[in-house]
This record gives sequence, structure tokens and C-alpha cells, in this order.
Amino acid sequence: MLGKFSTKKHKAPEEIDSANIPEHIAIIMDGNGRWAKKKGLPRIAGHREGMKVVRNIVMACDDIGVKALTLYAFSTENWKRPRKEVDFLMKAPEKFLLTYLPELVEKNVQVRTMGSPDNLPAYTVNAVETAVEETKDNTGLILNFAWNYGSRFEMTQAVRNLAQEVKDGKVDVDQIDESMISNYLFSPQLGDPDLLIRTSGELRLSNFMLWQLAYTELWFTDVLWPDFKKAQLLEAVHDFQQRGRRFGGV
Ligand code: FPP
Repeated sequence: MLGKFSTKKHKAPEEIDSANIPEHIAIIMDGNGRWAKKKGLPRIAGHREGMKVVRNIVMACDDIGVKALTLYAFSTENWKRPRKEVDFLMKAPEKFLLTYLPELVEKNVQVRTMGSPDNLPAYTVNAVETAVEETKDNTGLILNFAWNYGSRFEMTQAVRNLAQEVKDGKVDVDQIDESMISNYLFSPQLGDPDLLIRTSGELRLSNFMLWQLAYTELWFTDVLWPDFKKAQLLEAVHDFQQRGRRFGGV
């Protein structure tokens, strides 16, 4: 897809309005494999570099006053990748948190996760759970990892759980409304993202937060995730600030 649509040349860091920062940013971190291929490296080298970028972008979001950052780190469809790559990605949370958890704690970040715990190795679940537990009393930026996450799976679980409540007589069918459905999704307390960023030039949502993105502003860049920097984050936020959000109104 690269080059199929025109994007502006990346400019110097934009002036952003600190009174209008998107509260919740979601990112589809794409292009690690292509970044590695371009350099003649194995795909996992792209993911390794991508982890450093995660750290930098968390800090950049914290700097500008973002309240929540949701990162699409492993999808329910990513199991189809070669075994070696899946193994590397399953170890990524442990590696990432071993390196960066002290800094996240110092910055008052709250680590959260959303997705299915099914089929995940114990070391992956433990690493994430430990970080969630260690940061649960923090009050700063919420860093939410979408891990083994798929939006259709999330909605299917919500429908099942809600149907069970109806069957058990705890919920009346007439009570079901949009806010109740939101509450049955994985991270209702975060609120819907204000801004979605997707890197690498792909123009699709890839089964990510389909319910929650209903009125989210979308921003796409050709930049591959390992090359994504604070300058691009600021460009996305600046662009967000030029948009008129009407939520279906006038
Ligand atoms: C998409 O690029 C990226 C992923 C599927 C994995 C994202 C994971 C990381 C950035 C590691 C961070 C993880 C943690 C826990 C901090 P791709 O491999 O699909 O790239 P391609 O489309 O160029 O092949």
C-alpha cells in the first residue's frame, strides 16, 4: 500500500494546543516486519526495535498529558504467524517490562491489558499481571496493552455474557442499551479512543476496537512503527486538533 495515497511530508514537531489533547489515543503499531526486511534483518528485529518505540511513545504521551494509551500489540489473528515470531512476541511483555517497568512506575503509569487470556503461556500472563498489580495504585497515564485481542471476539464475549445475565434473570432485555453493551467490553472504564493512529501505510482497522472507534478521529501515516517518533505523534495530535468533532450532530 505504500505510496498509494498521498501523505504530507513529515514536518518539524507541530505546535499543539495543550488544552485540547486527545484523552485516549489508540495505536495500531504496524510495519515492524517490513522495517526489518528493508534492513535485511529477521522480522523479530523489527519487533525488538518496536518495543523501544513503545517506551518512547509512552513517555511522549505522558509528556503531553494524554490520559490513556491503548496499543494493539498482539491480535487474535497473529497466531497464524511463523512459530518463531509468535514465540518472540509472547516473550515481548516480559522483556519489555523487565527493562521498562521501573521507569513506568516512576512515571506513575498504570499498566492494563485487554484481550483473552486463553492459549497464552504462563510467562506472558504473569509478566502482564505483575505489571498490572504493581501499578494498580498509580494515578498517571493508563497504558493499556491489547494482547491476544480481537474486536469480534470481544463483542462475542460481551453478547454471551449479557445473554447469560438475561437467562439468569439479572438483566431485562428492555434494559439493554449502548452503554450497557460498552460495559460488557474489555475496558469500559477507559472510554472510547479520541484518536486512532495506524502506522505503515495500511488503511484498515484489522479487527481493532470496532465498537469503540465509532466516533474516533483516524490518522494514518506511511512511517513504519520502528521509525515512529514523538514528532509524528505531535503531528497526529495537531491534525486531531484541526478537526471538528460533531458526533453525528451539526
Ligand atoms: C505489526 O507489524 C506489529 C505486531 C503484530 C506486533 C507489535 C508488537 C510490538 C511493537 C512489540 C511490543 C510489545 C510489547 C509487549 C511492548 P508487522 O509485523 O505486522 O509488520 P509488517 O506488516 O511489516 O509485516
